[in-house]
Amino acid sequence: MSSDSSGNAALPCQDMRRRYRKKLFVIVIFSLVAGMVYWLYQYDHRIDTSADDLLKEALLECYKTKPQIRGQLHSDGPTIYAITPTYSRPVQKAELTRLSHTFMLVPDFHWIIVEDAPSPTSLVTKLLLRSGIPHTQLVAATPKKWKLKEKDANWKYPRGVIQRNRALEWLRENLDANRDKGVVYFADDDNAYSLEIFEEMRSTKGVSVWPVGLVGGLMVEKPLLNATTGRVAGWNSAWKPERPFPIDMAGFAINLELLLHHPEAKFSFDVEGGYQESEILRHITTRDKLEPKADKCTKVYVWHTRTEPPKLNQEQLLQKKGKRSDEGMEV
Ligand code: UGA
Ligand code: MN
Repeated sequence: MSSDSSGNAALPCQDMRRRYRKKLFVIVIFSLVAGMVYWLYQYDHRIDTSADDLLKEALLECYKTKPQIRGQLHSDGPTIYAITPTYSRPVQKAELTRLSHTFMLVPDFHWIIVEDAPSPTSLVTKLLLRSGIPHTQLVAATPKKWKLKEKDANWKYPRGVIQRNRALEWLRENLDANRDKGVVYFADDDNAYSLEIFEEMRSTKGVSVWPVGLVGGLMVEKPLLNATTGRVAGWNSAWKPERPFPIDMAGFAINLELLLHHPEAKFSFDVEGGYQESEILRHITTRDKLEPKADKCTKVYVWHTRTEPPKLNQEQLLQKKGKRSDEGMEV
C-alpha cells in the first residue's frame, strides 16, 4: 500500500521533472541558435560597414584625384591611338576580349589592331565590331625568317616589329599633324591595363613615361626622378640597364604631332633584343625631355602580365581521332 501510494506520488513528480528538463533543453537550444543568428548578423553587418567605409574612401579618393574616370565616355581631349599587334593562338580571343572590355570604357579612343596574319581573320573582325570601339583593322605578317616557332625561346626574335610599323604607316597616311590631336600608345595584347593609364597619357606633349608592373625581372620597372627638378634622372631597370631607354613598350606614349614630324621613327629587326623601345624613342626624344606621369611615377597602372600557354594534351588526343572539342565554336 505504502509502496503503491509512494509510487503513485512519485510518478507525476518524475513526469514534471522530465517535462521541465525538456523545456529547459528546448530553451537552451533556442537561445543558442538565436545567439548564433544574432552573432552572425552582427558579424555580417560589421563586414558590410567596413567594406562600405573602404568603398566610400576609394570613391572619395577617385572624385578628388580622378574626375575623368567618373564621367567616362566623354572627353574633349586628344584621341588615344592604341596599337596592338596580335597573332592567332589558343588564347587570342581571351586576350583581345579582356583588352576590349577595358578599352570600351576609355573615351576618345581609337584601337589599331594589326594582325600577324596574311589576311584579316573573322575572329578579330567580329570582336572589333561587337566591341563598338572605333577601330582600324590591319594586317602585316611577320616574315618566316623572323617568326618564332612554338618551341623557340620568346627572346630569340623581336615580336610585333612589322605590325607596329604597319600601324605607324597608317597613322602617317591617314592623319594630319595640323588637324588631328592624339597620343600614340603601343598596347600589346597580353598586358593588363587600368583605366587610369589612358587618362595619364592623354596630356602627353612629347613623350611621357610611367612605371610598368611585373617586367624586366622586377615587381615594377620605373623611371627615377630627380627630387629637385622632378625630371627623369634614370630608371631602376635591372635587365640591360645600359639601354638608352631601359623601359618596356607599355611604359611610354608619344604625342601624335611629334610622331608625325619624325617619319624616320620606327621599329627594326636589326637591333639587339630589348632595344625596340630605344630604337623608336632615340629618333624623337632625349631622356631629359621625358614627361613623368602616374603621380610622379609612384603608381602602377599597367602590368606586363604574360599569359601561360594552356595545356591542350587532351585536345591533341581528340584531334588524332579526327574530333575536336570546339567543333563549330569560336573559343
Ligand atoms: C616584350 C615587350 O613587352 C614587347 O612589347 C616587345 O615587342 C618584346 O618584348 C620584344 O622585345 O620583341 P613580350 O611579352 O615578350 O614583350 O612579347 P609578346 O607579348 O609575346 O609580343 C608583343 C606583341 O607582339 C603582342 O601584342 C603579341 O600579340 C604580338 N606578337 C607576338 C605577334 O604579333 N606575332 C608573334 O609572332 C608574336
Ligand atoms: Mn607581352
